[in-house]
Amino acid sequence: MEYTSIDSVLSDEMIGKKVRLRGWVYRHRVIGGKVFVVLRDSTGIIQCVVDSSKVPQQVFDDASKLGLESSILVEGVVCREPRAPGGYELHVSDLSVVHFTRDFPIKGGEGVEYLLDNRHLWIRSRKLTTVMKIKHRVLEAAREWLLDNGWWEVTPPILTASACEGGATLFEVKYFDKKAYLSQSAQLYLEVLIYGLEKVWSLTPSFRAEMSRTRRHLAEYWHLELEAAWYSMEDMMKVSEELVAYIVDRVLERCRRELEFLKRDTSILEKSTKTPYPRITYDEAVKRLKEKGLSVEWGDDFGADEERVLTMDFDKPFFITHFPRHIKSFYMKPDPGRPDVVLGFDMLAPEGYGEIIGGSEREVDYDKLYQRVVEEGYDPSDYKWYLDLRRYGSVPHSGFGLGIERLVMWIAGLDHIRDAIPFPRFRGRIYP
Ligand code: 4AD
Ligand code: MG
Repeated sequence: MEYTSIDSVLSDEMIGKKVRLRGWVYRHRVIGGKVFVVLRDSTGIIQCVVDSSKVPQQVFDDASKLGLESSILVEGVVCREPRAPGGYELHVSDLSVVHFTRDFPIKGGEGVEYLLDNRHLWIRSRKLTTVMKIKHRVLEAAREWLLDNGWWEVTPPILTASACEGGATLFEVKYFDKKAYLSQSAQLYLEVLIYGLEKVWSLTPSFRAEMSRTRRHLAEYWHLELEAAWYSMEDMMKVSEELVAYIVDRVLERCRRELEFLKRDTSILEKSTKTPYPRITYDEAVKRLKEKGLSVEWGDDFGADEERVLTMDFDKPFFITHFPRHIKSFYMKPDPGRPDVVLGFDMLAPEGYGEIIGGSEREVDYDKLYQRVVEEGYDPSDYKWYLDLRRYGSVPHSGFGLGIERLVMWIAGLDHIRDAIPFPRFRGRIYP
């Protein structure tokens, strides 16, 4: 007899059928002559009842001694049991132990640092497993949308010789006898690739040496980036909202059970499947923040607090556009009608989450870009290849980057970004 998955036996059609299951002990208690084992596999949990009067003595003894997270094989008959989690249980006829576990270090109620030290064990928790399933669906949906809309997937480098998003958050690595950096963004390389492929995207790890620990910053995160020739900022904003709306729609369709398990209120997610998303300018955002009593001045960059306050006005993702030039990256194209602001946009997720996407139209003029490289304090010789793009068939183009964990955090309704990635990296944490 084959082994079946737990989710496939949780149905009325399975009542009375004999099945084999395998997995890990999720809960365990002995009451009188019965052992109640809640078994967990990748698909769910089911209560298994081992009755001393119905199994050989050895099986009952083994079942009695099981510690949490022991791995076992069971055989039994599926029964309806409204009091059991999920509404069904297995009446066990045979059970064998693959590995006895004693004293699993996570018993419930442990603190955050302890759980992070034991991440390799905590990661099998139902909550983190559920979030990983949602992340899988997010990545699947993104890929589907990009395939359906004619975007080429490309593979930019992770080891780089120059900064994309400012020197402050660069991770330096020894590269033979030279210095190199871990990529903060694939953007500059994607810009290269549009001359052959026009519409490109990549999914890569990006690295940021963020000095402070916040709820939404990782030192290593998964970055989905798009870049397209001939696209204006407006064109790119449309792409970004269509992509996000599609992802949310697919997750709602494919992750009903997962969202329910996380007790996610999906009303705002439902609204977020409809585009267009609202837009406000940076000027308007400053005005709104001042009206709400925050002390911001034109020219300030927004942090998590400002963004949280702004999200309260919206019930779906929204854009902030036309940021002051000096708070944004060197490659952004200034607004021709108003050169103190750039043709840049952020997409913010509602419900307090804030920035999930940063994008812009790019500067395409050689001299202007050269000047911005110098102003930024970079050595232009490091950027010769990037500047070259403005010498040979320069075209208007735009792109953006989406932080996958930021998106997952919002969709899953997590209160901290660390749970959107199996092995979170941030200052002071590299183990396990
Ligand atoms: O806004 P950022 O810095 O923009 C860029 O890197 C552009 N070069 C992207 C492009 O146009 N191709 O980063 C883009 C997104 C942010 O909106 C955020 O979602 C995510 O990356 N992000 C982070 N996610 C987790 N931890 C961090 N430390 C992050 N920094 C940025
Ligand atoms: Mg940004």
